[in-house]
Amino acid sequence: MEQDYESRFMSASYSGREDADIELSLRPHVLSEYIGQEKAKENLSVYIEAARGRNEPLDHVLLYGPPGLGKTTLAGIIANEMNVNFRVTSGPAIEKPGDLAALLTNLEEGDVLFIDEIHRLSRSIEEVLYPAMEDGAIDIIIGKGPSARSIRLDLNRFTLVGATTRAGQLSSPLRDRFGVILRLEMYSPGELAQIVNRSAGILGVKIDKEGADEIASRSRGTPRIANRLLRRARDYAEVKGDGVITKESAGLALEKMEIDGLGLDNIDRLILTTMIRNYNGGPVGLETLAAVIGEESVTIEDVYEPYLMQLGFLSRTPRGRVVTPAAYRHLGLQMPGQQMIEL
Ligand code: ADE
Repeated sequence: MEQDYESRFMSASYSGREDADIELSLRPHVLSEYIGQEKAKENLSVYIEAARGRNEPLDHVLLYGPPGLGKTTLAGIIANEMNVNFRVTSGPAIEKPGDLAALLTNLEEGDVLFIDEIHRLSRSIEEVLYPAMEDGAIDIIIGKGPSARSIRLDLNRFTLVGATTRAGQLSSPLRDRFGVILRLEMYSPGELAQIVNRSAGILGVKIDKEGADEIASRSRGTPRIANRLLRRARDYAEVKGDGVITKESAGLALEKMEIDGLGLDNIDRLILTTMIRNYNGGPVGLETLAAVIGEESVTIEDVYEPYLMQLGFLSRTPRGRVVTPAAYRHLGLQMPGQQMIEL
């Protein structure tokens, strides 16, 4: 239980790729280092302080929102602030009820169990979670046939932190068992610039204000993307420049990655131009769109649409997705039956 935070955090099953290791090193470890998500942070700090004061584990927490906004990071911070172990798994990794039972019975007092993509747990596995979350116990069946009997096994007290990109897909019995439900929002360019500056400091790379602003404004509201763009801008600054990330070197790196001024990449543009060219701007159904561009519909829904909708480039209607006039303007395309609007 008294392992240091770093080794607890590193025990998570991340790959050994350079970028993945760097990404891990950029994660804040305490709430005071965590930039943005002010509402979630303010609430969490009160709940954590109260639970610590009562010497109790924190109530179960559900974090939801688009990918890359820091759900895993926040879960790690909760474990660190509560001074307990951080155990990491994910919905798809838990195949059988016995897998979850093994995880739960191995938890030490107060541990945080993080289940990423919790909406992907099967119903039979969810049913193991209900008594674990509510009564701190699991029911296991011993034996088969007429001699089978159920015994109740008490667990150490723990905090379940569930993360999902789609809270709506969680069954209501599961959702109802979380005492704390926090929605993570996209970050403002100002917050992202602070994150970029903090990360540049950890990486030991120099960056000027315009360089940080350039990366921040093209990171689609997402720290994971901001940190990735920062690493590529560093590569460019080191190889093609004098090592300092400026607006110019950041701009060059982003241009080479085909990321435009608003942070849209090739797939974002393909989504919009397909809707415009093939479907007159919509409405078009999600499944149709996914089939035409060759992406999974869940990827379009979870990864691409939130930012396109945030920019006001796409709207969801009961009849399907529709491209907005603002998207036509951004792409320099003319709306059907309209004069091109000069900006
Ligand atoms: N790195 C990634 N996300 C971060 C955040 N929200 N605050 C500080 N550093 C981060």
